[in-house]
Amino acid sequence: MASYNLKVNGKKVSVNTDDDTPLLWVLRDELNLVGTKYGCGIGQCGACTVHIDGIAMRSCSVPASRMEDSEITTIEGLADEKLTPVQEAWKELDVPQCGYCQAGQIMTASSFLKQNPNPNNEEIRNAMHSNLCRCASYNRIEKAVALAAK
Ligand code: FES
Repeated sequence: MASYNLKVNGKKVSVNTDDDTPLLWVLRDELNLVGTKYGCGIGQCGACTVHIDGIAMRSCSVPASRMEDSEITTIEGLADEKLTPVQEAWKELDVPQCGYCQAGQIMTASSFLKQNPNPNNEEIRNAMHSNLCRCASYNRIEKAVALAAK
């Protein structure tokens, strides 16, 4: 166990963790940022998606110990004072069903739209296809990404 300095949602924090502890568990268990969810733990479902230097990444698959030089953003830090266009679109289209995967979906969509602000439907589908939703809210997710892009 060692101490690491991270920057999470714009704040510097010091955490004590093992070298190989996934960032997901440091966020949830050490920093109480429980919006980031555990789904599969093996990088397959997307529930744990956060932004690392603005890029969507799966926090279950990266050790927190390697994140000292990076800016980490979780769903709790995505908006400033008002919701982002992606969050507004999610709200307007009532996207979530059970809601469990939705933070990861929103983090993936937000990063994608920064890279591609005017995507077509196929690009949206491709960008979102590896974020799984057991309730199959895919249709609403795609519509919300398109709405946020407008
Ligand atoms: Fe990280 Fe599923 S929990 S991808």
